Amino acid sequence: MSTYKLFLLPGDGIGPEVMAEVEKIAAFFTQQGVAHFEIERGLVGGAAYDAHGQAISEADMRRAAAADAILLAAVGGPKWDGVPYDVRPEAGLLRLRKDFNLFANLRPAICYPALADASSLKRELVDGLDLMIVRELTGGVYFGAPKEIVDLGKGQKRAVDTQVYETYEIERIGRIAFELARKRRNKVTSSEKHNVMKSGVLWRDTIIDLHKREFPDVELDHMLADALGMQLVRKPKQFDVIVTDNLFGDMLTDVAAMLTGSLGMLPSASLGEVDQKTGRRKALYEPVHGSAPDIAGKGLANPIAMIGSFGMALRYSFGLSDLADRVEAAIAAVLAKGYRTADIKGGAPQSVSTGEMGEAILAELKAAV
Ligand code: IPM
Ligand code: MN
Repeated sequence: MSTYKLFLLPGDGIGPEVMAEVEKIAAFFTQQGVAHFEIERGLVGGAAYDAHGQAISEADMRRAAAADAILLAAVGGPKWDGVPYDVRPEAGLLRLRKDFNLFANLRPAICYPALADASSLKRELVDGLDLMIVRELTGGVYFGAPKEIVDLGKGQKRAVDTQVYETYEIERIGRIAFELARKRRNKVTSSEKHNVMKSGVLWRDTIIDLHKREFPDVELDHMLADALGMQLVRKPKQFDVIVTDNLFGDMLTDVAAMLTGSLGMLPSASLGEVDQKTGRRKALYEPVHGSAPDIAGKGLANPIAMIGSFGMALRYSFGLSDLADRVEAAIAAVLAKGYRTADIKGGAPQSVSTGEMGEAILAELKAAV
């Protein structure tokens, strides 16, 4: 039986609560003998700042480097609003993405039939929705230099963020999108704003060239990012794979999450380049939702996005697609049986706690053995 090293970073807010549910499932698989998960835990975000004044420690960066997969729950909260910019909670997550070159962020938005009524859109618009947003994660305005606030004197300041992309960055994220589309419904929608941004012009041209050269069999279209936001809420089922930059991807995946019923439903995988020697890639798995400090510690959080992220680790890092299928089937089954956390309650008579939802998914996995 193979051993897989998981490095868990629960982070802040609801992070520890949702991560605890993943630990139960990993322990069950280990105990069952289907795979052996070796678990280490570290600190990221505000939790790391409180412990050692950094958003992630060097020791935890080394542990993350040694792991087969990193699972992160969420970072941030009002408690750390005043901390210096360089050590704010988000800096820990951004450092993990950048240092491990996790350029490809896969954010699938699936609307389970049982949840179609929890969405803010009409059932017929979202029922059966299955789209994948591929967000570039290590470039663009998140990391471009200069990034600064300059004092101009006389009470005036100038703030600069830099949106920058090079050809190779667009090509490698484009390849991920086209390859995924081939395994799905064979359609890619590329999104930027070439009508106002030079980076958008290069993005569009590069995707067109790549498509011609390597993926002529895949259907490709282009949509300006503002129009895509509108189309996502107008007619979301028209999309298969969407590929876009770091900032537009951040925005559009929050929108896509609501189509599925709740931000608490969306998992994600952040993948690095495949190492030619080992055939493996560095990867971090995290829910799309944040730390939700307003509901932290109350057992109200939905653990499904975190559990789904573990499912993505099984699939993309460990090649355990049958186990990943089992996790996804267990999630679908508990939803079909009517289990609802508060965020997806809709018109349901009552909701379950974080722990009860996790236990229900675990019970489903046990019953399926
Ligand atoms: C996300 C989050 C992060 C981002 C924050 C926490 C830095 O919103 O993963 O979508 O902006 O990328
Ligand atoms: Mn976001």
